[in-house]
Amino acid sequence: MAEEKPSTVVTCTAPVNIAVVKYWGKRDEELILPINSSLSVTLHQDQLKTTTTAAISRDFKEDRLWLNGKEDDIGHPRLQSCLREIRRLARKRRGGNGDSGSGDHPPLSLAYKVHIASENNFPTAAGLASSAAGYACLVYTLAKLYGVEGELSEVARQGSGSACRSMFGGFVQWIVGESADGKDSVALQVAPETHWPELRVLILVVSAEKKPVGSTAGMQTSVKTSLLLKHRAEAVVPERMEQMIQHIQERDFEAFAELTMKDSNQFHATCMDTFPPIFYLNDVSKQVIALVHRFNAHYGKAKVAYTFDAGPNAVLFALEDTVDDLVEVVKRSFPPENNGGQFLKGLPVHKASLSDELLTAVVRDPVPGAIRYLLLTKPGPGPMMVEDASSHLLGADGLPQSSP
Ligand code: DP6
Repeated sequence: MAEEKPSTVVTCTAPVNIAVVKYWGKRDEELILPINSSLSVTLHQDQLKTTTTAAISRDFKEDRLWLNGKEDDIGHPRLQSCLREIRRLARKRRGGNGDSGSGDHPPLSLAYKVHIASENNFPTAAGLASSAAGYACLVYTLAKLYGVEGELSEVARQGSGSACRSMFGGFVQWIVGESADGKDSVALQVAPETHWPELRVLILVVSAEKKPVGSTAGMQTSVKTSLLLKHRAEAVVPERMEQMIQHIQERDFEAFAELTMKDSNQFHATCMDTFPPIFYLNDVSKQVIALVHRFNAHYGKAKVAYTFDAGPNAVLFALEDTVDDLVEVVKRSFPPENNGGQFLKGLPVHKASLSDELLTAVVRDPVPGAIRYLLLTKPGPGPMMVEDASSHLLGADGLPQSSP
Protein backbone atom coordinates (compact mmCIF):
# COMPACT_ATOMS: atom_id res chain seq x y z
CA MET A 1 0.00 0.00 0.00
CA ALA A 2 1.37 3.38 -0.98
CA GLU A 3 2.06 5.56 1.99
CA GLU A 4 -0.35 8.46 2.18
CA LYS A 5 1.32 11.81 2.07
CA PRO A 6 0.17 13.76 5.11
CA SER A 7 -1.53 16.98 4.07
CA THR A 8 -0.01 19.96 5.77
CA VAL A 9 -2.68 22.50 4.91
CA VAL A 10 -6.44 22.01 5.13
CA THR A 11 -9.37 24.38 4.55
CA CYS A 12 -12.93 23.72 5.72
CA THR A 13 -16.17 25.63 6.14
CA ALA A 14 -18.83 25.39 8.85
CA PRO A 15 -22.35 26.75 9.35
CA VAL A 16 -24.20 28.97 11.82
CA ASN A 17 -27.14 27.46 13.71
CA ILE A 18 -30.24 28.95 15.31
CA ALA A 19 -31.76 27.25 18.36
CA VAL A 20 -35.50 26.57 18.53
CA VAL A 21 -35.16 25.00 21.99
CA LYS A 22 -32.61 27.24 23.67
CA TYR A 23 -29.46 26.39 25.58
CA TRP A 24 -29.02 28.76 28.51
CA GLY A 25 -26.97 27.78 31.55
CA LYS A 26 -24.02 25.51 32.33
CA ARG A 27 -23.53 22.90 35.03
CA ASP A 28 -19.78 22.81 34.28
CA GLU A 29 -18.04 25.96 33.05
CA GLU A 30 -14.77 24.27 32.16
CA LEU A 31 -16.12 21.42 30.03
CA ILE A 32 -19.12 23.51 28.89
CA LEU A 33 -21.82 21.11 30.05
CA PRO A 34 -25.36 22.51 29.81
CA ILE A 35 -28.23 22.36 32.30
CA ASN A 36 -30.66 21.32 29.56
CA SER A 37 -30.76 19.78 26.10
CA SER A 38 -31.30 22.09 23.12
CA LEU A 39 -32.24 21.83 19.46
CA SER A 40 -31.30 23.94 16.46
CA VAL A 41 -31.61 24.38 12.73
CA THR A 42 -28.33 24.57 10.83
CA LEU A 43 -28.40 27.48 8.37
CA HIS A 44 -27.16 27.22 4.79
CA GLN A 45 -23.51 28.03 4.19
CA ASP A 46 -24.31 29.74 0.89
CA GLN A 47 -25.48 32.65 3.04
CA LEU A 48 -23.59 32.32 6.34
CA LYS A 49 -20.38 30.43 6.95
CA THR A 50 -16.97 30.45 8.54
CA THR A 51 -13.95 29.35 6.50
CA THR A 52 -10.84 28.14 8.32
CA THR A 53 -7.42 27.12 7.04
CA ALA A 54 -5.00 25.28 9.32
CA ALA A 55 -1.43 24.49 8.35
CA ILE A 56 1.50 22.71 10.00
CA SER A 57 5.13 23.06 9.08
CA ARG A 58 8.48 22.36 10.62
CA ASP A 59 9.34 25.98 9.78
CA PHE A 60 6.69 27.49 12.05
CA LYS A 61 8.16 28.85 15.27
CA GLU A 62 4.93 29.09 17.28
CA ASP A 63 1.19 28.46 17.07
CA ARG A 64 -0.48 31.52 15.50
CA LEU A 65 -4.03 32.64 14.75
CA TRP A 66 -5.59 35.20 12.37
CA LEU A 67 -9.27 36.17 12.56
CA ASN A 68 -10.71 37.98 9.56
CA GLY A 69 -7.16 38.79 8.39
CA LYS A 70 -5.90 40.20 11.70
CA GLU A 71 -3.57 38.36 14.04
CA ASP A 72 -5.31 37.40 17.29
CA ASP A 73 -4.40 35.79 20.60
CA ILE A 74 -4.14 32.01 20.21
CA GLY A 75 -3.86 31.67 23.99
CA HIS A 76 -7.61 31.96 24.56
CA PRO A 77 -8.44 29.12 27.01
CA ARG A 78 -11.34 27.75 24.96
CA LEU A 79 -9.29 27.71 21.78
CA GLN A 80 -6.48 26.00 23.66
CA SER A 81 -8.93 23.34 24.95
CA CYS A 82 -9.96 22.51 21.37
CA LEU A 83 -6.38 22.41 20.11
CA ARG A 84 -5.19 20.28 23.04
CA GLU A 85 -8.12 17.88 22.67
CA ILE A 86 -7.59 17.35 18.92
CA ARG A 87 -3.85 16.81 19.39
CA ARG A 88 -4.62 14.31 22.17
CA LEU A 89 -7.05 12.40 19.93
CA ALA A 90 -4.51 12.41 17.10
CA ARG A 91 -1.86 10.98 19.39
CA LYS A 92 -4.28 8.34 20.69
CA ARG A 93 -5.28 7.34 17.19
CA ARG A 94 -1.68 6.87 16.18
CA GLY A 95 -1.19 4.61 19.17
CA GLY A 96 1.42 6.78 20.87
CA ASN A 97 0.88 8.42 24.21
CA GLY A 98 2.91 11.46 23.42
CA ASP A 99 6.04 10.54 25.25
CA SER A 100 8.76 8.51 23.67
CA GLY A 101 9.04 5.86 26.41
CA SER A 102 8.21 2.98 24.08
CA GLY A 103 10.44 4.29 21.37
CA ASP A 104 7.23 4.98 19.51
CA HIS A 105 7.64 8.69 18.79
CA PRO A 106 4.52 10.64 17.95
CA PRO A 107 4.55 11.48 14.25
CA LEU A 108 6.60 14.52 13.59
CA SER A 109 3.63 16.57 12.44
CA LEU A 110 2.23 16.55 15.98
CA ALA A 111 5.28 18.31 17.24
CA TYR A 112 5.02 20.97 14.55
CA LYS A 113 3.45 24.33 15.29
CA VAL A 114 0.13 25.20 13.69
CA HIS A 115 -1.02 28.34 11.89
CA ILE A 116 -4.77 28.98 11.77
CA ALA A 117 -6.67 31.60 9.76
CA SER A 118 -10.42 31.99 9.97
CA GLU A 119 -12.93 34.32 8.40
CA ASN A 120 -16.69 34.81 8.14
CA ASN A 121 -18.61 35.63 5.00
CA PHE A 122 -20.81 37.94 7.09
CA PRO A 123 -19.94 40.95 9.28
CA THR A 124 -19.10 39.90 12.85
CA ALA A 125 -20.73 43.12 14.02
CA ALA A 126 -24.13 41.94 12.75
CA GLY A 127 -24.38 39.75 15.87
CA LEU A 128 -25.15 36.56 13.98
CA ALA A 129 -23.67 34.08 16.48
CA SER A 130 -20.28 33.71 14.88
CA SER A 131 -18.72 31.72 17.74
CA ALA A 132 -20.74 28.58 16.94
CA ALA A 133 -19.62 28.50 13.31
CA GLY A 134 -16.12 29.61 14.31
CA TYR A 135 -15.44 26.83 16.82
CA ALA A 136 -17.20 24.17 14.72
CA CYS A 137 -14.98 25.15 11.82
CA LEU A 138 -11.82 25.21 13.93
CA VAL A 139 -12.44 21.73 15.33
CA TYR A 140 -13.47 20.23 12.00
CA THR A 141 -10.44 21.70 10.22
CA LEU A 142 -7.95 20.61 12.90
CA ALA A 143 -9.48 17.12 12.89
CA LYS A 144 -8.95 16.86 9.13
CA LEU A 145 -5.43 18.21 9.44
CA TYR A 146 -4.43 15.71 12.13
CA GLY A 147 -6.46 12.83 10.69
CA VAL A 148 -8.84 12.57 13.66
CA GLU A 149 -12.24 10.95 13.09
CA GLY A 150 -15.29 10.12 15.18
CA GLU A 151 -17.12 12.13 17.79
CA LEU A 152 -16.06 15.75 17.32
CA SER A 153 -19.09 17.61 18.68
CA GLU A 154 -17.73 16.93 22.15
CA VAL A 155 -14.59 18.86 21.23
CA ALA A 156 -16.47 21.72 19.52
CA ARG A 157 -18.64 22.00 22.64
CA GLN A 158 -15.54 22.94 24.61
CA GLY A 159 -15.06 25.94 22.34
CA SER A 160 -18.61 27.23 22.66
CA GLY A 161 -21.67 25.26 23.75
CA SER A 162 -23.77 26.07 20.70
CA ALA A 163 -20.83 25.15 18.41
CA CYS A 164 -21.42 21.43 18.97
CA ARG A 165 -24.72 21.75 17.09
CA SER A 166 -22.94 23.33 14.08
CA MET A 167 -21.07 20.03 13.56
CA PHE A 168 -24.12 18.64 11.71
CA GLY A 169 -26.46 19.86 9.00
CA GLY A 170 -30.25 20.06 9.13
CA PHE A 171 -31.93 19.69 12.51
CA VAL A 172 -29.65 18.96 15.44
CA GLN A 173 -30.09 18.22 19.13
CA TRP A 174 -27.48 18.65 21.82
CA ILE A 175 -28.14 16.05 24.48
CA VAL A 176 -27.70 17.38 28.02
CA GLY A 177 -25.93 14.18 29.18
CA GLU A 178 -25.37 12.98 32.73
CA SER A 179 -21.74 12.08 33.12
CA ALA A 180 -19.32 14.43 34.85
CA ASP A 181 -16.69 14.09 32.11
CA GLY A 182 -19.11 15.27 29.42
CA LYS A 183 -18.69 12.18 27.23
CA ASP A 184 -22.46 11.90 26.76
CA SER A 185 -23.10 15.62 26.18
CA VAL A 186 -22.95 15.46 22.41
CA ALA A 187 -24.80 16.68 19.33
CA LEU A 188 -26.90 14.32 17.20
CA GLN A 189 -28.65 14.93 13.92
CA VAL A 190 -32.46 14.73 14.20
CA ALA A 191 -33.05 15.09 10.44
CA PRO A 192 -30.88 16.11 7.48
CA GLU A 193 -31.25 19.45 5.66
CA THR A 194 -33.14 17.72 2.83
CA HIS A 195 -35.88 16.65 5.24
CA TRP A 196 -37.95 19.86 5.03
CA PRO A 197 -37.24 21.49 1.64
CA GLU A 198 -39.94 24.16 1.96
CA LEU A 199 -38.61 25.61 5.22
CA ARG A 200 -37.13 29.11 4.97
CA VAL A 201 -35.32 31.29 7.48
CA LEU A 202 -35.47 35.09 7.31
CA ILE A 203 -32.99 36.98 9.48
CA LEU A 204 -33.83 40.57 10.40
CA VAL A 205 -30.64 42.39 11.28
CA VAL A 206 -31.74 45.12 13.64
CA SER A 207 -29.89 48.42 13.88
CA ALA A 208 -28.56 48.38 17.44
CA GLU A 209 -26.13 50.80 18.98
CA LYS A 210 -25.01 48.96 22.06
CA LYS A 211 -23.50 45.51 22.41
CA PRO A 212 -25.59 43.30 24.69
CA VAL A 213 -24.25 41.24 27.62
CA GLY A 214 -22.42 38.22 26.16
CA SER A 215 -24.11 34.84 26.49
CA THR A 216 -21.33 33.28 28.58
CA ALA A 217 -21.60 35.96 31.28
CA GLY A 218 -25.37 36.30 30.95
CA MET A 219 -26.09 32.63 31.51
CA GLN A 220 -23.77 32.51 34.54
CA THR A 221 -25.87 35.16 36.28
CA SER A 222 -29.07 33.42 35.22
CA VAL A 223 -27.92 30.07 36.69
CA LYS A 224 -27.06 31.80 39.96
CA THR A 225 -30.22 33.84 40.32
CA SER A 226 -33.17 32.65 38.22
CA LEU A 227 -35.62 30.18 39.72
CA LEU A 228 -37.53 30.26 36.44
CA LEU A 229 -34.42 28.98 34.62
CA LYS A 230 -34.12 26.10 37.09
CA HIS A 231 -37.76 25.19 36.54
CA ARG A 232 -37.34 25.50 32.78
CA ALA A 233 -34.32 23.18 32.71
CA GLU A 234 -35.86 20.58 34.99
CA ALA A 235 -39.50 20.56 34.06
CA VAL A 236 -40.08 22.33 30.73
CA VAL A 237 -37.27 21.52 28.31
CA PRO A 238 -37.33 17.68 28.53
CA GLU A 239 -40.90 17.59 27.26
CA ARG A 240 -40.29 20.34 24.69
CA MET A 241 -37.37 18.40 23.21
CA GLU A 242 -39.63 15.42 22.55
CA GLN A 243 -42.35 17.63 21.10
CA MET A 244 -39.98 19.60 18.89
CA ILE A 245 -38.39 16.44 17.48
CA GLN A 246 -41.84 15.10 16.66
CA HIS A 247 -42.99 18.34 14.98
CA ILE A 248 -39.83 18.34 12.85
CA GLN A 249 -40.18 14.67 11.95
CA GLU A 250 -43.81 15.26 10.93
CA ARG A 251 -42.96 18.59 9.22
CA ASP A 252 -45.85 20.10 11.20
CA PHE A 253 -45.13 23.79 10.62
CA GLU A 254 -47.86 25.21 12.87
CA ALA A 255 -46.80 23.15 15.87
CA PHE A 256 -43.10 23.80 15.14
CA ALA A 257 -43.77 27.54 14.87
CA GLU A 258 -45.79 27.80 18.05
CA LEU A 259 -43.26 25.89 20.15
CA THR A 260 -40.35 27.86 18.65
CA MET A 261 -41.97 31.17 19.66
CA LYS A 262 -42.88 29.92 23.14
CA ASP A 263 -39.36 28.70 23.76
CA SER A 264 -37.81 31.97 22.63
CA ASN A 265 -40.22 33.85 24.87
CA GLN A 266 -39.41 31.63 27.85
CA PHE A 267 -35.68 32.09 27.33
CA HIS A 268 -36.16 35.87 27.38
CA ALA A 269 -38.40 35.52 30.43
CA THR A 270 -35.53 33.75 32.24
CA CYS A 271 -33.31 36.70 31.28
CA MET A 272 -35.84 39.07 32.84
CA ASP A 273 -35.97 36.77 35.89
CA THR A 274 -32.18 37.00 36.19
CA PHE A 275 -31.01 39.43 38.88
CA PRO A 276 -30.00 42.04 37.87
CA PRO A 277 -32.20 41.45 34.81
CA ILE A 278 -30.83 41.09 31.29
CA PHE A 279 -32.66 42.56 28.29
CA TYR A 280 -31.77 41.27 24.85
CA LEU A 281 -34.95 42.29 23.05
CA ASN A 282 -35.21 45.97 22.13
CA ASP A 283 -38.22 47.96 20.89
CA VAL A 284 -37.72 46.79 17.31
CA SER A 285 -37.56 43.14 18.44
CA LYS A 286 -40.86 43.64 20.25
CA GLN A 287 -42.40 45.29 17.19
CA VAL A 288 -41.35 42.24 15.15
CA ILE A 289 -42.98 39.93 17.70
CA ALA A 290 -46.23 41.92 17.50
CA LEU A 291 -46.08 41.93 13.68
CA VAL A 292 -45.70 38.13 13.53
CA HIS A 293 -48.65 37.65 15.87
CA ARG A 294 -50.83 40.00 13.75
CA PHE A 295 -49.75 38.14 10.59
CA ASN A 296 -50.67 34.79 12.12
CA ALA A 297 -53.93 36.13 13.57
CA HIS A 298 -54.92 37.38 10.12
CA TYR A 299 -54.62 33.84 8.73
CA GLY A 300 -55.99 32.18 11.85
CA LYS A 301 -52.90 29.97 12.13
CA ALA A 302 -49.16 30.14 12.69
CA LYS A 303 -47.62 30.83 9.28
CA VAL A 304 -44.53 32.57 10.69
CA ALA A 305 -42.44 32.00 13.83
CA TYR A 306 -39.87 34.25 15.49
CA THR A 307 -36.93 33.40 17.67
CA PHE A 308 -34.28 35.63 19.30
CA ASP A 309 -30.89 34.75 20.81
CA ALA A 310 -28.75 36.92 23.04
CA GLY A 311 -29.33 40.08 20.98
CA PRO A 312 -32.10 42.05 19.26
CA ASN A 313 -31.93 40.40 15.80
CA ALA A 314 -35.03 38.41 14.84
CA VAL A 315 -34.88 35.06 13.07
CA LEU A 316 -38.16 34.17 11.39
CA PHE A 317 -39.26 30.78 10.08
CA ALA A 318 -41.85 30.40 7.33
CA LEU A 319 -42.65 28.02 4.52
CA GLU A 320 -41.59 28.91 0.99
CA ASP A 321 -45.12 29.88 -0.11
CA THR A 322 -45.32 32.56 2.63
CA VAL A 323 -41.91 34.18 2.17
CA ASP A 324 -42.73 36.72 -0.57
CA ASP A 325 -45.68 38.14 1.39
CA LEU A 326 -43.73 38.10 4.64
CA VAL A 327 -40.80 40.02 3.15
CA GLU A 328 -43.16 42.63 1.72
CA VAL A 329 -44.92 43.05 5.06
CA VAL A 330 -41.57 43.42 6.86
CA LYS A 331 -40.37 45.97 4.27
CA ARG A 332 -43.53 48.05 4.68
CA SER A 333 -43.29 47.91 8.46
CA PHE A 334 -39.58 48.78 8.55
CA PRO A 335 -38.92 50.72 5.34
CA PRO A 336 -35.23 50.69 4.38
CA GLU A 337 -33.63 54.08 4.90
CA ASN A 338 -30.67 54.59 2.54
CA ASN A 339 -29.56 51.22 1.35
CA GLY A 340 -32.69 50.17 -0.56
CA GLY A 341 -30.65 48.12 -3.02
CA GLN A 342 -28.83 46.17 -0.32
CA PHE A 343 -31.81 45.66 1.95
CA LEU A 344 -32.55 42.12 0.88
CA LYS A 345 -29.70 39.62 0.86
CA GLY A 346 -29.53 35.87 0.34
CA LEU A 347 -32.02 33.71 -1.56
CA PRO A 348 -34.15 35.45 -4.20
CA VAL A 349 -37.55 36.87 -3.26
CA HIS A 350 -40.35 37.60 -5.73
CA LYS A 351 -42.38 40.78 -5.68
CA ALA A 352 -45.66 40.25 -3.81
CA SER A 353 -48.83 42.25 -4.20
CA LEU A 354 -50.52 42.27 -0.85
CA SER A 355 -54.26 42.51 -0.33
CA ASP A 356 -55.60 45.59 1.41
CA GLU A 357 -57.04 43.40 4.15
CA LEU A 358 -53.62 41.95 4.91
CA LEU A 359 -51.99 45.38 4.87
CA THR A 360 -54.51 46.97 7.21
CA ALA A 361 -54.50 43.98 9.52
CA VAL A 362 -50.73 43.61 9.77
CA VAL A 363 -48.80 46.78 8.92
CA ARG A 364 -49.01 49.43 11.68
CA ASP A 365 -46.92 52.54 12.35
CA PRO A 366 -43.95 51.88 10.06
CA VAL A 367 -40.51 52.51 11.63
CA PRO A 368 -38.08 53.58 8.87
CA GLY A 369 -34.48 52.46 9.26
CA ALA A 370 -35.13 50.18 12.26
CA ILE A 371 -33.92 47.14 10.32
CA ARG A 372 -30.56 47.30 8.57
CA TYR A 373 -31.15 44.40 6.20
CA LEU A 374 -32.91 41.08 5.67
CA LEU A 375 -31.14 37.84 4.87
CA LEU A 376 -33.13 34.95 3.43
CA THR A 377 -31.68 31.46 3.88
CA LYS A 378 -32.76 27.87 4.55
CA PRO A 379 -31.55 24.78 6.42
CA GLY A 380 -28.20 23.59 5.15
CA PRO A 381 -25.42 21.01 5.49
CA GLY A 382 -22.78 20.62 8.19
CA PRO A 383 -19.05 21.38 7.99
CA MET A 384 -17.15 20.38 4.87
CA MET A 385 -13.66 20.29 3.49
CA VAL A 386 -12.84 22.61 0.59
CA GLU A 387 -10.72 20.72 -1.94
CA ASP A 388 -9.86 23.73 -4.10
CA ALA A 389 -6.39 24.94 -3.09
CA SER A 390 -7.17 28.51 -4.17
CA SER A 391 -9.53 28.75 -1.16
CA HIS A 392 -6.73 28.42 1.38
CA LEU A 393 -6.53 31.46 3.63
CA LEU A 394 -2.84 30.80 4.29
CA GLY A 395 -0.18 30.95 1.57
CA ALA A 396 2.79 28.66 1.08
CA ASP A 397 4.67 30.78 3.63
CA GLY A 398 1.97 30.04 6.24
CA LEU A 399 0.81 33.64 6.37
CA PRO A 400 -2.61 35.08 5.45
CA GLN A 401 -2.95 35.33 1.68
CA SER A 402 -4.53 38.71 1.34
CA SER A 403 -3.02 40.61 4.28
CA PRO A 404 -0.18 43.03 3.53
C1 DP6 B 1 -28.95 32.24 23.38
O1 DP6 B 1 -22.97 28.87 22.90
O2 DP6 B 1 -22.67 31.38 22.78
O3 DP6 B 1 -27.68 31.48 21.51
O4 DP6 B 1 -21.29 28.08 25.62
O5 DP6 B 1 -20.78 30.22 26.77
O6 DP6 B 1 -20.04 29.87 24.42
P1 DP6 B 1 -21.08 29.55 25.48
O7 DP6 B 1 -22.45 30.20 24.99
P2 DP6 B 1 -23.13 30.20 23.56
O8 DP6 B 1 -24.65 30.42 23.99
C2 DP6 B 1 -25.69 30.43 23.06
C3 DP6 B 1 -26.95 30.84 23.72
C4 DP6 B 1 -28.13 31.10 22.79
C5 DP6 B 1 -29.04 29.89 22.71
C6 DP6 B 1 -28.58 28.72 21.87
O9 DP6 B 1 -27.86 28.90 20.87
O10 DP6 B 1 -29.02 27.60 22.20
